[in-house]
Amino acid sequence: MQVKDMEIKKEDLKILFTAEQIQHRIKEIALHLNSIYKDEEVYVVCVLKGAVMFAVDLVKYLKMPLKMEFIRLSSYGHSTTTSGKVNAVDISLPDLNGKNVLVVEDIVDTGLTAKFLLDFINNNFKTKTTKFCSLLDKKCFRKTQIEPDFVGFDVDDKFVIGYGLDFEGHFRNIPYIGHVENL
Ligand code: IMP
Ligand code: MG
Repeated sequence: MQVKDMEIKKEDLKILFTAEQIQHRIKEIALHLNSIYKDEEVYVVCVLKGAVMFAVDLVKYLKMPLKMEFIRLSSYGHSTTTSGKVNAVDISLPDLNGKNVLVVEDIVDTGLTAKFLLDFINNNFKTKTTKFCSLLDKKCFRKTQIEPDFVGFDVDDKFVIGYGLDFEGHFRNIPYIGHVENL
């Protein structure tokens, strides 16, 4: 659907996860990650743009030494269904050989973006561990075997917006996650 075909207002959004629910769940994930990594150093790889809110909130609760890396991938283009083609806008990473790598995503839909990135990391580095954390998991359109190691919430076949997730670049700044009926 093209943005010119419809206008979305914030008021039209049906809230799926409130800001409080999101923060509560992020603290739970962080507790889990703290218990897994203990004092080992972690390279947190945030997939821009969508995962920026989640990644910056998550790392505030992580206690191990960590470094943050930011890469930029895009696959959605100008519609609400995946283009099926992942575009590596900026995938520059430091030497991750022997490192614990935690990829942080906003949502896994088809899984093509995650597969592209995890294959890239595995083809270029011999990491100590590579784990994948996604705030949202939309399993219904999956086209790959990819399953996140850590998930915030499951979502069904709705197009969701807010807390980093956008529609045509808009709504990333909304502190909750919602969806628009019929989108
Ligand atoms: P995938 O490659 O199909 O798994 O899609 C992953 C990317 O598409 C995510 O990182 C998001 O940026 C975007 N995406 C997927 N579903 C949604 C959605 O419901 N709302 C906003 N962006 C989405
Ligand atoms: Mg994303």
